[in-house]
Amino acid sequence: MGEEKKILLVHGPNLNMLGKREPAIYGAETLDDVNRQMTDAGKQRGIAITPFQSNHEGAIIDKIQACFGTFQGIIINPGAYTHTSIGIRDAILSISLPVVEIHLSNIYKREPFRHKSMIADVAVGQISGFGVYGYLLALDALTHHLNASVKN
Ligand code: DQA
Repeated sequence: MGEEKKILLVHGPNLNMLGKREPAIYGAETLDDVNRQMTDAGKQRGIAITPFQSNHEGAIIDKIQACFGTFQGIIINPGAYTHTSIGIRDAILSISLPVVEIHLSNIYKREPFRHKSMIADVAVGQISGFGVYGYLLALDALTHHLNASVKN
């Protein structure tokens, strides 16, 4: 039997405010709700999910770097740093691990400054606009990607 896979789940700035923050856009569920659903879904798939949230770019970069050699992949909602952070982009490139980018809202339906992602072209793929369900889609997408990589 293979070892259990480990996936880091990164939540960027202001996502600690989920449930209170602009509920018409981001919904009523809290970050704890998201993390609970994800850790449960991970268990069902034999994957250990480690959630991490920070409002600080450097802390997110440190966490991504620390994944090297420990985690097999990352699911990240970089929040507003999606649109600005070359540092997070470079951190992802530095660890050579598969990353799935997720957004609760459809960033392409919103203000023009949200249409650009610094992360999208260094991620395996992006999920945007499906609310909290998008995290489960991201988990399935990353699991599929990891299983497919093992076969190749
Ligand atoms: C977000 C979209 C970003 O534009 C925004 O800054 C967020 C949340 C989303 O999940 O829809 O903080 O990443």
